[in-house]
Amino acid sequence: MEKTNKNRCLLAAKCRVAGTSECTNQCSAFIAMHGLSGAGGRVGAAGLPADYRLVTLANSPARTEQAKIYAKINDYVATFDRQFEEGTERIKSLYLFSESPGTGKTTTAAAILNEWLTVHYVGSLQRGVQPMQRPAYFLDVNSWQTDYNNFNRPKVPDNIAEPAAKRFYTAMENAKHAPMAVLDDIGLRDCTDGFRGDLHAIINHRVTNAKPTIYTSNLPIKYMDTKVATLMPYDLIDVFGEERLADRMRDQCAVLSFGGGSFRGRR
Ligand SMILES: Nc1ncnc2c1ncn2[C@@H]1O[C@H](COP(=O)(O)OP(=O)(O)O)[C@@H](O)[C@H]1O
Ligand SMILES: [Mg+2]
Repeated sequence: MEKTNKNRCLLAAKCRVAGTSECTNQCSAFIAMHGLSGAGGRVGAAGLPADYRLVTLANSPARTEQAKIYAKINDYVATFDRQFEEGTERIKSLYLFSESPGTGKTTTAAAILNEWLTVHYVGSLQRGVQPMQRPAYFLDVNSWQTDYNNFNRPKVPDNIAEPAAKRFYTAMENAKHAPMAVLDDIGLRDCTDGFRGDLHAIINHRVTNAKPTIYTSNLPIKYMDTKVATLMPYDLIDVFGEERLADRMRDQCAVLSFGGGSFRGRR
């Protein structure tokens, strides 16, 4: 077992005492970020899947392959300090896109979210203000849709439906209100109008309130070629069932296209 928390604390790269005898589970900054157990704190509250909790831009496995994109992302995260400034330029959103899965979109989105958590925590302390408990939130849209289906299918027993509905609405509130959010995998297939409406509501709320959002998707925001009805969805316009929200999203959003083949299962 590792003696210090140097390799399981997001703050390590910025921390004076990382790896020293003070780098223990008793460290208040470690507890604030990761909780006593390492699975709580602000990182736990952000809802990141366990595999992505310690991903940073510096250690991301996608960094070498997607070097050009990471250079852009470094410039992007340099704007995160604006969260502490009133009335400055807004922080943009990012749309991480690739047609094929396994190109590092989710990994990269998690690294950006972790950067936000770090900037928020350190920046708040530097300014003498209390860091928020949930400054960022990760919504896995697929599992959120599974929860939706678990309380909307006919004849679902209450003991399944009730907790699913509770998880669903809690996640929805978090995704709406967190100062920054990742909406992971918004290229949905087979969704009902009800679910579509709830996803639309989250994005609409975030766009309207100028909250930065990192989207990942295997669909473009707007497909420019001819569409064949039976092969829909081609893009977010098909997902939302209207053009307006996709247009508003595109405004204030940089699209980063992830190239290369899939790295899934190649650990
Ligand atoms: N460019 C890359 N180089 C090495 N490993 C990668 C790369 N991109 C992704 N991976 C690995 O492949 C797996 C899938 O990556 P993920 O970020 O989930 O892809 P996506 O969200 O684009 O489908 C992860 O285990 C990740 O660490
Ligand atoms: Mg993904």
